[in-house]
Amino acid sequence: MHDSGLRHVSGSAVYTDDIPEPAGTLIAYVRYADKAYARIKHTDTSAVAAHPGVAAVITATEIPGINNIGPVFPDEPLLAEGFAEYYGHPLFAVAACDLKTAREASAKARIEWEVLEPELSVRSAYEKQQFVAPVKQMKRGDADKGLTDAPHRLKKNYRVGGQDHFYLEGQVSLSVPGEDGEITIYVSTQHPSEVQHMAAKVLGVSHHKVIVEVRRMGGGFGGKETQAAALACISAVLAVKTGKPVKLRYDRDDDMIITGKRHDFEATAEAGYDDNGRISALRTLLLANAGWSADLSLPVCSRAMFHTDNAYYIEHLKVTGCCCKTNTVSNTAFRGFGGPQGMFFTEQVIDDVARRLGKDPADVRKLNYYDKDTRNITHYGQPVSDFELNDMTRMLEQSSDYYTRREEIKIYNGQNEIFRRGLALTPVKFGISFTVKSYNQAGALINIYPDGTVQLNHGGTEMGQGLFIKTAQVAADVLGIDPAQIRCMATNTGKVPNTSATAASSGTDLTEWPVSLSATGFYRTPDLNYNEETATGSPFYYFAYGAAATEVIIDSLTGEYKLLRADILHDCGNSLNEAIDRGQIEGGYIQGVGWLTSEELVWNKEGRLLTHAPSTYKIPTCRDIPPIFNVDFYHKPNAKDTIFKSKAVGEPPFMLGMSAFFALKDAVGSFAAPGEDVILDAPATPERVLMEIERLKSVHQNALKPAELYRLYTGAEPFITVTVIETSGSAPCRAGAKMAVGQTGRLAGSVGGGRLEHSAVQHSIDMLKRCDVNLHTEEFSLGASLGQCCGGRVRLLYEPVNIFQHKLALFGSGHIAKEIISVLAGTSVRLTVIDNRPTEFPTELPSNCRTLLTEDPVAEMPVLKDCDAALIMTHDHSLDFDIVYDALKESRFDFLGLIGSAKKRQRFEYLLRGRGIADEDIARLICPSALKAYAPQNPERLPLQYPHRYCNILSQTKFSHNR
Ligand code: MTE
Ligand code: HPA
Ligand code: MOS
Repeated sequence: MHDSGLRHVSGSAVYTDDIPEPAGTLIAYVRYADKAYARIKHTDTSAVAAHPGVAAVITATEIPGINNIGPVFPDEPLLAEGFAEYYGHPLFAVAACDLKTAREASAKARIEWEVLEPELSVRSAYEKQQFVAPVKQMKRGDADKGLTDAPHRLKKNYRVGGQDHFYLEGQVSLSVPGEDGEITIYVSTQHPSEVQHMAAKVLGVSHHKVIVEVRRMGGGFGGKETQAAALACISAVLAVKTGKPVKLRYDRDDDMIITGKRHDFEATAEAGYDDNGRISALRTLLLANAGWSADLSLPVCSRAMFHTDNAYYIEHLKVTGCCCKTNTVSNTAFRGFGGPQGMFFTEQVIDDVARRLGKDPADVRKLNYYDKDTRNITHYGQPVSDFELNDMTRMLEQSSDYYTRREEIKIYNGQNEIFRRGLALTPVKFGISFTVKSYNQAGALINIYPDGTVQLNHGGTEMGQGLFIKTAQVAADVLGIDPAQIRCMATNTGKVPNTSATAASSGTDLTEWPVSLSATGFYRTPDLNYNEETATGSPFYYFAYGAAATEVIIDSLTGEYKLLRADILHDCGNSLNEAIDRGQIEGGYIQGVGWLTSEELVWNKEGRLLTHAPSTYKIPTCRDIPPIFNVDFYHKPNAKDTIFKSKAVGEPPFMLGMSAFFALKDAVGSFAAPGEDVILDAPATPERVLMEIERLKSVHQNALKPAELYRLYTGAEPFITVTVIETSGSAPCRAGAKMAVGQTGRLAGSVGGGRLEHSAVQHSIDMLKRCDVNLHTEEFSLGASLGQCCGGRVRLLYEPVNIFQHKLALFGSGHIAKEIISVLAGTSVRLTVIDNRPTEFPTELPSNCRTLLTEDPVAEMPVLKDCDAALIMTHDHSLDFDIVYDALKESRFDFLGLIGSAKKRQRFEYLLRGRGIADEDIARLICPSALKAYAPQNPERLPLQYPHRYCNILSQTKFSHNR
């Protein structure tokens, strides 16, 4: 259990805002810009300062030290200087007796603006080359050539949204001034040392005057790696100015409007792949939305580049990363730190490749996996020495029953028009270590008291992830005492100095060693060597792995969806604490699901965040947890020398949430034709899901529906199937792609679209018009003439289906009719067999035969008007006569055959004459058995003789009925 578990649920866990306020504590409020981009011509805060209850107001000019808190580049003024660069930019801060007073006072400022045109689009910032950091590239092989050489190519733009951290405890800081300029800052931060150094810089004092302490955070998720510094610094400056303790806490709306989030990204990805879906080349351009300042965007974007391979060996890979400057919040660390975004785009590519090839995306994923002995070097040159995912995927496929459910879903979707299900299995390979080498260090201080109890201090911070219980367990183990003897102390820069952030999932890995080493330990991760200049080497100590299979159901009328089941297999090495790690896996997965599904950040065209509260920003709730949720550990010790051979678990499970997104895409894909692209960006909100379903449906509106296609195939209507039987070079389709063209040019399927398809449709319509029953092949050279950008060849096969040169009505379904049907099965003669006895129809009809059940065949004659020939052989002679009489009188059919004896033919002739039918018409009634050659002593030959005779006559006749 978590060391604070009971305190969390009983409400007795002390967070920064719960610390009893020292007497005289003032409350601060930050007034921020309500313009996305503007020049600040003049700020007059005199009315604010004069407001009763206000103790101090600070603007940029009142900062005693340096007005800058940029953690990587000095590009981030604490309070706006000259320009407001986003809607939410802190302008000035007020300290007053209470929050209400501070707020009211801040409204009295007079600010003169020159409003400028904000840049809100990542693409357009990229086009203008507006970056907050240098553009970076990583590559292996020759992606450009690899793309040209590949049999198939895909090029698409993708987007993935950002994410608000939505820590339950918002950003907060309490600064308490001490004697001689000393100041203690209690702040909810993942990086106390950086806050200490930053506050000293802003205050213009030396480091030893600032003490930063954090007992615990109510969640950080990366949002408190750098973003807490602003609150700490503002409260510290106000505390120093007033000589009083000052607390600053953003409410939820202000927190969401002011602080940075996960970077939203756009990407252009081009992949070269073969018929099986193996990707040989990938060229990706990553555009990270840095927001108005650099913050951690450069390392975030680097991590995205490091994870562009995810679990896949791609021989030729080039990835370019740009940190684009826009007038929005300055985006920052968030669980996965760019890794999720980098992986997501490649997963989109793999999913699209699989769909184009008509393959199960899980199979294409496995095909592209790293291997153990070959194909095991990343694009930046680090060996993947312990690739566990082949084993793990096999295990997960079994435990989740993946392939059985895949088949069940296919059937379900075939039978359900409104509700559709989807399934996806996705892998994660995540690099463990800070990519900035110097961050990979930690320290600890253990105080042992005479009664044998122990105080454990270290540089790591507790944000709910269970670092403290894990360190206590290790310390207890090393010291040989009961964990109850150990107190985990609040993290304090005065106890363990100059620490790294608790981030990059490395808290446990880094902190445990010094804890285990000695009373005052220090540890640095070994084996890291990465060359920033050449972008090659080994930035990670090891990789953590995981795989998840998620099943969803969507309502195609509303776009709403539910997770039905999730199965996870995750690799924690030797887990230090399975209860804690399970929490990390479940929580990470759900947070990842939220990122890619319901959590959407919407800015209006003025650059104002519209979704700044839980009413409009939707994080997953307990109702969104899949009802079947199986989490398993992959029990295998870490190959690297980590504490008890464990593996870091904080961030990697976050990316398992991708399986939910791809399950949604799979469900939406049930509305697409085979080989057709599904276009779904993240987050896949119900709106986006619905829009894509609607788009797919409208594309298919002129297309044949499955039921119609079935009707075509069962013989009612002629059509042509067009099949791609051969391709070379870069063709817009793959061999095997199929399309059906109906009489009016209605379509099902596709042979790749564009002018190639247009030309194939025209050709098919011509064939239908000509009643052409022959197979054809046709070869196309692709290129500019067919509107294709790249060269290649495609060979098409045209197969006529149900083109009937003749239509024959069989009156009566006796044994002769049955024989005729079987003799003519599969020919270009379409048969209609008419009878009033349903049980008499042949049980297995060939596709060119249909039945007509009727008591009164004569009345049905108009229905049969497209038949050019009739054979009459009912079980009732008088009915036969009625049919013959009607046919001759109305001059129906070009060929009229009577089955029966010569005597029957004579009797009919006599009766017909009596009814006034002319002799030349009566001559049309052909009765082969009445001829000498077909002697009635051989009645068993009749079934063969009729078709034979019929075909002979047909071949000599030009029928008027046949268009
Ligand atoms: N778990 C909880 N409950 N709360 C958090 O804020 N942060 C995540 C992850 N798990 C977080 C969490 C992030 S972003 C990181 S980097 C790691 O925990 C940090 O802790 P660790 O390095 O000790 O794993
Ligand atoms: N992960 C998380 N936080 C970081 C990193 C990283 O790789 N580098 C610097 N801060
Ligand atoms: Mo985690 S994003 O590295 O704080």
